[in-house]
Amino acid sequence: MSNVLRLTIVDPNDSTRDNLKTALLGMDVVWLEAECSRYEFFADVVGQTNPDIGIVAMDDDPEKALALVARLSRSTPNCSVLVTSSSSDGTLILQAMRAGAKEFLTEPLRIEDLAAALDRIGSRQGGDGDSTSRNSRVIAVAGATGGVGTTSLAVNLGCAIASDEANTAALVDLDLCLGDADVFLDTIPDYTLVDVAQNVSRLDFTLLKRSLTKHSSGLFLLPRPIKLEDVSLITAEDFQRVIGLLKATFSHLVLDLSKSYSPVDHVAMAMADDVLLVTQLDLPCLRNTVRLMMAFEEVEGLADKVKIVVNRIGLDESQISLKKAADTIGREIFWQIPNDYRVMSSSRNNGIPLLEQAPKANITQTISQMASVLATGESATASDAGGKSSIGRLFNFWGKGQETAKSE
Ligand SMILES: Nc1ncnc2c1ncn2[C@@H]1O[C@H](COP(=O)(O)OP(=O)(O)OP(=O)(O)O)[C@@H](O)[C@H]1O
Ligand SMILES: [Mg+2]
Repeated sequence: MSNVLRLTIVDPNDSTRDNLKTALLGMDVVWLEAECSRYEFFADVVGQTNPDIGIVAMDDDPEKALALVARLSRSTPNCSVLVTSSSSDGTLILQAMRAGAKEFLTEPLRIEDLAAALDRIGSRQGGDGDSTSRNSRVIAVAGATGGVGTTSLAVNLGCAIASDEANTAALVDLDLCLGDADVFLDTIPDYTLVDVAQNVSRLDFTLLKRSLTKHSSGLFLLPRPIKLEDVSLITAEDFQRVIGLLKATFSHLVLDLSKSYSPVDHVAMAMADDVLLVTQLDLPCLRNTVRLMMAFEEVEGLADKVKIVVNRIGLDESQISLKKAADTIGREIFWQIPNDYRVMSSSRNNGIPLLEQAPKANITQTISQMASVLATGESATASDAGGKSSIGRLFNFWGKGQETAKSE
């Protein structure tokens, strides 16, 4: 992968150094360049290996470690220093930060905290506007009503992203009661989201990856629980930690949300870079889209991430026009997916993704193009056309009755 962070570590304590190494070795986004057991030699090691990140474990000798951090920030400013310590003393944290540390982590390390710190450093090093940011991209796929095509899109988007060798992608099925992503991929998984969520504090990256099922397309799947009674065992907090772990090991995550907009769905949207809201060109769907957008506008930062995807274009003559839909919703349409029931239903019934089942079909090409735009994170943030509340437009729209022009 091109977006790997190169690391060196110094820790005179063999046991904590080994723990850190084990945690790091399971992460795809990390390459361990060198390890060192003496503070005295570390500045030279960093000078020679020129890593992105230097991890300094402070416990063995905090004073020496602080002096080392200060030296590193002078001699190798391009190397971001991350320090670890079993002390949560505010003075020590302040001293470390003043010496030039970019991140301070408390021992015993929580793997998702380590992953999040590396992610923050990676995105800072990616720089403003640098499209090669090391951040993992998270795409949440939500729907305006049941059966609108959320899972069809999430599964095939995930496969399209995974088909690019530069990417590592995982799909998480968040329709915790009735999810069917495993059926779309014809897999019988050994583990589900409930196993991973319940063991999140004990999991390392290697175990995490082993708990996911790898499809022949390259896409990894984390399915919904098998037993209905296990659904309540997945808390929003555990799920947030699972996403933290997954972000550290996959370049792309696709989250297939439920239609209940539960706390878990909200965590998914909060952690996503893009939220695709799938809708169709009929009145119930558009009404729900407006209602959902109104709710999303109340959550800081959420509405700006939403991209409207219109599915099943050309389904029937009575479809509302795209322009009318965009006016009603008050946003541009990000992507249009054609109606192709024959291809889509045979793909679903056979458990074979579109790229394999019908690689040349228009619907497959459309989803692949969307995947390449979303995968790079280059897509512009959906703009709020006019910035006005969409309520007025909605009433206006109902008042005038349904327009039945063709899509434009
Ligand atoms: N672009 C499309 N053209 C034709 N049929 C489609 C298209 N997208 C989805 N479908 C069909 O619509 C039905 C519902 O799709 P899907 O299961 O993906 O929706 P969903 O929103 O995930 O549903 P649920 O609310 O049950 O989770 C399926 O039969 C699928 O084959
Ligand atoms: Mg679904």
